[in-house]
Amino acid sequence: MKNQTIAVIGIGYVGLPLACLAADKGYQVLGVDINQKLIDKVNKAQVPFKDDLVKKLLKKTVQSGNLKASNDFKLLKKVETIAVCVPTPVDENYQPDFKPLISAVQRIKENLVKGQLVIIESTINPGVCEEIVLPILEQGGKKVGKDFYLAHAPERINPGDPKWNVSNLPRNVGALSKTGLKKAAQFYRDIIDAPINEMQSIKEAEATKTIENAFRDINIAFINEIAKSFDQLGIDVVDVIKGASSKFSFMAHWPSCGVGGHCIPVDPYYLIRKAETVGFSHDFLKLARQINNHMPKYTVELYQDELNKVGLAVKGTKTAVLGIAYKADIDDTRESPAFEIIEELKKMGADVLTYDPLVLEKSTEKSLKQTLKKAQALLIVTDHSEFKEKLDGQTLKKNNIKVVLDGKNCLDKEDIVKAGVNYKGIGR
Ligand SMILES: NC(=O)c1ccc[n+]([C@@H]2O[C@H](COP(=O)([O-])OP(=O)(O)OC[C@H]3O[C@@H](n4cnc5c(N)ncnc54)[C@H](O)[C@@H]3O)[C@@H](O)[C@H]2O)c1
Repeated sequence: MKNQTIAVIGIGYVGLPLACLAADKGYQVLGVDINQKLIDKVNKAQVPFKDDLVKKLLKKTVQSGNLKASNDFKLLKKVETIAVCVPTPVDENYQPDFKPLISAVQRIKENLVKGQLVIIESTINPGVCEEIVLPILEQGGKKVGKDFYLAHAPERINPGDPKWNVSNLPRNVGALSKTGLKKAAQFYRDIIDAPINEMQSIKEAEATKTIENAFRDINIAFINEIAKSFDQLGIDVVDVIKGASSKFSFMAHWPSCGVGGHCIPVDPYYLIRKAETVGFSHDFLKLARQINNHMPKYTVELYQDELNKVGLAVKGTKTAVLGIAYKADIDDTRESPAFEIIEELKKMGADVLTYDPLVLEKSTEKSLKQTLKKAQALLIVTDHSEFKEKLDGQTLKKNNIKVVLDGKNCLDKEDIVKAGVNYKGIGR
């Protein structure tokens, strides 16, 4: 693969691991982005965010000369394959925002050369490649399947996952021509150590990712609803899920203070909105989104009830929100429930402190020790290892913490209760 070339457009959480992996496998890789700070960091081999694969491969691939980053889209002319990994967010009305994708594809069109393979990796609903991407690429008169190839291979990485990463996750690939499909599948087989599944159509490949994440959102919503019901019934949902998990067909999902990240709370809207254009209403998906979106407010309500039990009000209570990242041991805060929880607490007059060991720039406190000294009560948003390791009953008691609202059910309830500290989880 020494002479093979690829450009990765968008070198964030998805694009940079891909770029590092391809460079490590011998590809000449150009990372193209619009964020100059990020480009500079990558070229200096400074890991821009927490990712084990990037940490392992960035220095090696930059130093070998196989990986370079740039903001110059004209360099796209020099590569054989272009992978697009730009964001696909929703706007404030939960409508898909295709601006980053359209902008990236326009720059590809301006620099498209004969025989190039364009692969969209960003998460999109069925139809986007044919209805949005293709018309732009063909604007210059070039024809797909003849002058260039278009494929879709949705990325599945799960940041912070110690086992699964871009190098070992099976992938689905769809394309608009047989040659495009073969070329795209070959690229992934060159770099990935897992099955590469060739789909019947590009639309089916788009649909796989959409339903994978919708499936997760629905299951989380179901268990969040169960947790709310069990809060009323006085049943511990964590114990129940553990029990139910011994059934062969039960798949454990866990309730929490909210669903965050760039995927689960976003992707279902892409399918919901697309289906609306053909008159279909995804009622189940809409309800799941509604339930999951309500969890931050519900968590603050639980917190208020627990404070009241020990004679405190939210107003004026020194409340430490622990965790700003959307999930454990990563530094990504996109769509994190922490923001709505903090906003709600402040609206109610709480004296809010924040601490996240991986997001210190958005934290008011710089250490857990300092936070515990100042706080009267804790609201845990992220199940970071530091919290699980250090927040035991005795430590909480010593620091005179009156209430713990465990929004991730990640602490030892029995130990905390035994120490005489008021504990409440989501559904437990
Ligand atoms: N983060 C995840 O866990 C994950 C997992 C699977 C799939 N995805 C999907 O992958 C895509 C990228 O997500 P991400 O988390 O890597 O986002 P990100 O924000 O971390 O990275 C995207 C990068 O694209 C750059 N960018 C934006 N517009 C651009 C443009 N017009 N031209 C060039 N660069 C541009 C940004 O500067 C940024 O560096 C999304 O569609 C997302 O849904 C994300």
